[in-house]
Amino acid sequence: MVKICCIGAGYVGGPTMAVIALKCPSVEVAVVDIWDKRIAAWNSDQLPIYEPGLDDVVKQCRGKNLFFSTDVKKHVKEADIVFVSVNTPTKTTGLGAGKAADLTYWESAARMIADVSESSKVVVEKSTVPVKTAEAIEKILSHNSKGIKFQILSNPEFLAEGTAIQDLFNPDRVLIGGRETPEGQEAIQALKDVYAQWVSEDRIITTNLWSAELSKLAANAFLAQRISSVNAMSALCEATGANVSQVSHAIGKDTRIGPKFLNTSVGFGGSCFQKDILNLVYICECNGLPEVAEYWRQVVKINDYQKSRFVNRVVASMFNTVSTKKIAILGFAFKKDTGDTRETPAIDVCKGLLVDKAELSIYDPQVTQDQIQRDLTLRKFDWDHPIHLQPVNPTSCFNVDQVKVVRDAYEATKGAHGICILTEWDEFKSLDYNKIYENMQKPAFIFDGRYVIDADKLREIGFIVFSIGKPLDAWLKDMPAVV
Ligand code: NAD
Ligand code: UDX
Repeated sequence: MVKICCIGAGYVGGPTMAVIALKCPSVEVAVVDIWDKRIAAWNSDQLPIYEPGLDDVVKQCRGKNLFFSTDVKKHVKEADIVFVSVNTPTKTTGLGAGKAADLTYWESAARMIADVSESSKVVVEKSTVPVKTAEAIEKILSHNSKGIKFQILSNPEFLAEGTAIQDLFNPDRVLIGGRETPEGQEAIQALKDVYAQWVSEDRIITTNLWSAELSKLAANAFLAQRISSVNAMSALCEATGANVSQVSHAIGKDTRIGPKFLNTSVGFGGSCFQKDILNLVYICECNGLPEVAEYWRQVVKINDYQKSRFVNRVVASMFNTVSTKKIAILGFAFKKDTGDTRETPAIDVCKGLLVDKAELSIYDPQVTQDQIQRDLTLRKFDWDHPIHLQPVNPTSCFNVDQVKVVRDAYEATKGAHGICILTEWDEFKSLDYNKIYENMQKPAFIFDGRYVIDADKLREIGFIVFSIGKPLDAWLKDMPAVV
């Protein structure tokens, strides 16, 4: 029986390994982590992450060929293939701070593998890492005095949250990079045999190590670039009276462009896009390519611009001040169908409103009060560290009384001056907006950052409506925002 161990039981390690266990009954899979509470949750009925379909997959295999454990060393020692799926945050201090990937967790995992191993192993980079990381990892692993041989593979993960199980069941492609030596090719084949249990051969791409590592950063950069492109257009649409949905539809019909990933929004969020682009920027700078670095940096700059221009629009529309006004925030997760808030645009929007002294009433169906309070007080990039390693006394620029987290959208909007929709949860489409309008202060404003509502219907009710990228109301035209 092939034994797989995955170090890191997070959003990638957990679902990916659960699907491998389901699809490969003859493989024994252990997912290990140093975060004991997370492992306890994986072993309970309340899994640590919300992902449609995940419960079902875990229930089918847990205790049979899928195990979650804190005994990291034991499972690494026994494994034939070790996946490393630990977090690779953006560095917050020192060389490359604010851009470079912090490989502390990766390096410590590699050193531990070298220490505890008693037999040769294939070590798989599952985390997203800078191109050439495998070379550094090889150095750490090969400097053991035991004569053990390690083969390093790069097998980046392309799942998106909210559709992780679907993406893993039916991936567009699986990418495996390895050394072009006989031993490297043998290791590639061993991993290919695992995926071939459910992924057709033509979708398993094999490359050299550096191409695989770079392809992951490139894919995320291209995806994020599309969003920043359409978001840049949304600003021009508002200025000219064009409608960004119509523009997206028209350009997406060109088969060379295609219709996907052209939805304008209040900005992209999630743990990957910004982090990976900043990492790419740093790699370009280190390789003496400042023009290329600047090109990609612009994708992040436009994303920041989109979030701040949304805040400016809210404040400007409401007579240039939101001080002591109640603003309802509908949705805090970075997209629907996940409870994940990492780099959610809601953090920057909320902070922008809090600085202007707004009173926020926040509702999200999947995000807890603790999580929201933590997100609003942590410093930039500190979120990407295991919870027990996050700073104990984070600083904050607002008074804690300014933020209330409530249990439904009606409570959030009661008595509010304005509503900001920041996540596209389906339930926001079918709210009783007549009832909401009656219970709000007048004039009642709604700012839709996600295309959830039917703007014309809401205008008929009496709302003043801002939909990102859509022609502006007469009211909003009279209150131009500094963008
Ligand atoms: P995560 O923070 O949810 O999980 C990482 C886990 O690794 C944490 O539970 C942490 O405690 C654990 N860990 C850290 N150091 C460890 C060590 N030395 N030993 C044992 N456990 C350790 O992160 P994630 O979202 O699963 O992402 C993991 C990697 O995959 C990152 O590099 C990320 O960029 C990449 N990635 C993420 C996604 C996504 O959608 N989240 C998609 C593709 C790739
Ligand atoms: C992304 C990549 O899609 C995935 O391949 C990679 O493995 C990890 O990073 P994820 O961040 O989970 O996945 O979700 P994704 O669906 O890509 O959305 C990212 C952000 O972009 C979200 O905030 C989403 O709302 C936003 N988005 C997406 C838009 O604003 N417009 C779009 O058209 C699509």
